[in-house]
This record gives sequence, structure tokens and C-alpha cells, in this order.
Amino acid sequence: MKSIITFASISIFATIVTSQNSTYKRGLTDHFIQFLNLNKNYYPYNFNRTQFFGGSFGGKDNDTSPITKVPVVFVHGAADMLYGDNDSNNGFRYSIEYFIQNGYTKSEIYGSMWGFGDTSNQKNLVDVISHSMGVTLSRAAIKGGEFDLEDIQIIKLNSLGSRIRTYIGIAGINYGFMVCLNETISHIRNCDKILGFYPGMLDNKTNTTIDQSKFLQQINQNKAKEGTYAYSILSLYDQVAKPYVYGGNYTSVFPTMDMAFIFNSSLYTHCQVRDLSAELQLRLLNSYHEDIKETSEMNKFI
Ligand SMILES: *[C@@H]1O[C@H](CO)[C@@H](O)[C@H](O)[C@H]1NC(C)=O
Ligand SMILES: *[C@@H]1O[C@H](CO)[C@@H](O)[C@H](O)[C@H]1NC(C)=O
Ligand SMILES: *[C@@H]1O[C@H](CO)[C@@H](O)[C@H](O)[C@H]1NC(C)=O
Ligand SMILES: *[C@@H]1O[C@H](CO)[C@@H](O)[C@H](O)[C@H]1NC(C)=O
Ligand SMILES: *[C@@H]1O[C@H](CO)[C@@H](O)[C@H](O)[C@H]1NC(C)=O
Ligand SMILES: *[C@@H]1O[C@H](CO)[C@@H](O)[C@H](O)[C@H]1NC(C)=O
Ligand SMILES: *[C@@H]1O[C@H](CO)[C@@H](O)[C@H](O)[C@H]1NC(C)=O
Ligand SMILES: *[C@@H]1O[C@H](CO)[C@@H](O)[C@H](O)[C@H]1NC(C)=O
Ligand SMILES: *[C@@H]1O[C@H](CO)[C@@H](O)[C@H](O)[C@H]1NC(C)=O
Repeated sequence: MKSIITFASISIFATIVTSQNSTYKRGLTDHFIQFLNLNKNYYPYNFNRTQFFGGSFGGKDNDTSPITKVPVVFVHGAADMLYGDNDSNNGFRYSIEYFIQNGYTKSEIYGSMWGFGDTSNQKNLVDVISHSMGVTLSRAAIKGGEFDLEDIQIIKLNSLGSRIRTYIGIAGINYGFMVCLNETISHIRNCDKILGFYPGMLDNKTNTTIDQSKFLQQINQNKAKEGTYAYSILSLYDQVAKPYVYGGNYTSVFPTMDMAFIFNSSLYTHCQVRDLSAELQLRLLNSYHEDIKETSEMNKFI
């Protein structure tokens, strides 16, 4: 739980600004910031991120603010923000605004950090919605285990799976990037064979991949589910997480999911598949996946 923040802080890309407001006031509530300040275990992680515009979101206004829904935690991708204000850093802006318009309050939406401390609803469960590199990051944090962060450190994470009700991974890179096979870039951190997105080589005898990055193998081989329900959302027109890996498999699905929702329309780019699926995200948290109907743009896949 602590370490995901260490991870996330590496990927936060933001400028320093003083005001955190636009449509909905960004940042954490003063009440939650106070809670974090009082709880010294959280202190070193600088969760409040007051120095970042759109770096965080969530919290109660006061001790009696109600939490009636299962809170949702958003995990944004690399080089993005949680709740920014332009096309290069929107993060989960559209989902957060859509969820608020549909009855969620700020005490039921968290991002940039894992707000378990303040989410004292009866069952203590949360929903998690992640995007891009935030998908593998959050899957690792939920499954837990020992991760060797090369020159950084070895971290041990306790499994959080039993605390997650519904998990949604959007445009993830769970089986790697095929472009990482290109030898001129295969050594860079995002592509390498240890923590990167190296997809491995095709073993022509067994028709499976060998030598996928250690990090991907570790989370894909771990059978622990990411939540009671686990879903993938992806687009065949994703220009970043290019959809296909070996054998026509999709990189954005993952072995423990219950179902994938695949958009087959050029409107759905890497970021648009996150933004335009806000309604589907909300429905997935509130209805059983079998009840969701396919459309001309969206097919279900198991
Ligand atoms: C935004 O915040 C600033 C400083 O806190 C305040 O002066 C301004 O009224 C706020 N604007 C809105 C729209 O809330
Ligand atoms: C945010 O947290 C840091 C340490 O984690 C602390 O130094 C800072 O004072 C906090 N900001 C606010 C506004 O409480
Ligand atoms: C506590 O916050 C809620 C909104 O979350 C508000 O409706 C209520 O009036 C607040 N109570 C006090 C005592 O400020
Ligand atoms: C979007 O925001 C980022 C960071 O705040 C900034 O660097 C970039 O110039 C902005 N882009 C536009 C088009 O406003
Ligand atoms: C490999 O990557 C380099 C640098 O981005 C690029 O110039 C080259 O065309 C790529 N090779 C192939 C086969 O795609
Ligand atoms: C499998 O076959 C393909 C061509 O069909 C070749 O490019 C690839 O290197 C082979 N993989 C291995 C591991 O030998
Ligand atoms: C493609 O996916 C199927 C089903 O998950 C799996 O059995 C197969 O090994 C995968 N193929 C490759 C080449 O990874
Ligand atoms: C490998 O699996 C793919 C589907 O994942 C299939 O189309 C292909 O024929 C298989 N190749 C061999 C050599 O079995
Ligand atoms: C996506 O749509 C095209 C037609 O626009 C169709 O040919 C193709 O089979 C579809 N792909 C999938 C995986 O459904």
C-alpha cells in the first residue's frame, strides 16, 4: 500500500500551481489532508500532493460526511495526471466528472493515492479503475508479492485483492509492447526484460511466448484476481497500447479477468477509450457484466 505511491510518484507529471479548482475542486479535502498529517505512517509519502495541480482528488469534508457507495480509486497512466485540465494531462477527469454528476461525492472518489484510511464504509471495499501503465502498476499492487525494482529497491507488498470489489483495467499493456522487440529501443526502461514491457519471443514449438519481461510474467502468472469482478476495456484503434500481440492476442486483456469490452471504432484512441467509456465504467460498477449489451462499436470477449 505504501509502495504504490512510491511507484505512482515516479509517473506523476505536473506543474506547480497554487489553485486547485475548476469544475470540481481538485486535490484532497482539508479533512483528508489533516487525517494524513496526523497519521505519521503516511507522512513520508506526501500523499496530499498540494504542490501538483490535479495530482490528487478525494476525501470527506468532515467526520460526518456520508459514504454510501463503494468508493472508487482511479489509477492514472504514466506521464499523465489524475485530474488535469488539458488533453495531455486529463487523466480521469471525464470519469470523475461523470461519476459526480451521477451521484458520487468527493468522499467516494479517490485518486493518486490509495485512500483506504478515510474510506470507512461498512464493508471497507473499494472499486479500482486504472488506465495504461496504471493497469499493470495497480494489478501488481493488488496481487502483492516481492518485486525487484532493479536499482531502486526490492519491495514486498501484501495482497489487497480481498479489499477490491470491482477492478477495471483500461488500455493496459499486460502482455507487453510489440515495438519493444526493436533492438534499438529494447534496452530502455519501459521496454526492458526486467521491469519493462518486453513482450518476449514466440516459441514456435509450443506457440507460446518465452522471455516476456520478469515483471509481466510475475503478475500474469499470479492467479489472484484483481477484485471480486475484474474487467478489461480496450480499443482496436489504440495507437499507444497497440492492441495485438502474438497469435492475435490482445495486450490489454489479463488472465484473471471475467470479461473484456472491446471498442472497434477509430474514435477510441488510447485516451478516448478511457474518456468515452465513463458511462460503461459506471455501469460495470453497478450491474452484472452479463447484463451489459453489445453495441455496433463494442463487443464483449472472454
Ligand atoms: C478558485 O480558487 C481561488 C483561490 O482559492 C478562489 O479565489 C476562486 O474564487 C476559486 N474559483 C472558483 C471558481 O471556485
Ligand atoms: C502535505 O504533506 C506533507 C508531508 O507528507 C507535509 O509536509 C505538508 O505540510 C502537507 N500539506 C498540507 C497542506 O497539510
Ligand atoms: C459535513 O459535510 C457534509 C458534506 O460532505 C455536509 O453536508 C455537512 O453539512 C457537513 N457538516 C458539518 C457539521 O459541517
Ligand atoms: C497542458 O498542461 C501541461 C502541464 O500542466 C503543460 O505543460 C502543457 O503545455 C499544457 N498543454 C496545453 C495544450 O495547454
Ligand atoms: C527501430 O527503432 C528505431 C528508433 O526508433 C527506428 O528508427 C527504426 O525504424 C525501428 N526499426 C524497425 C524495424 O521498426
Ligand atoms: C518463430 O518463427 C518466426 C518466423 O516464423 C521467427 O521470426 C522467430 O524468430 C521464431 N521464434 C523463435 C523463438 O525461434
Ligand atoms: C494467446 O492467448 C491464449 C489464450 O490466453 C494462450 O493460450 C496462448 O498461449 C497465447 N498465445 C501466445 C503466442 O502467447
Ligand atoms: C498458434 O496460435 C494461433 C492462435 O493463437 C494460431 O492461429 C496458429 O495457427 C498457431 N500456430 C501453430 C504453429 O500452432
Ligand atoms: C472491427 O470492425 C471491422 C469493420 O469495421 C471488422 O472487419 C472487424 O472484423 C472487427 N474486428 C473485430 C475484432 O471484431
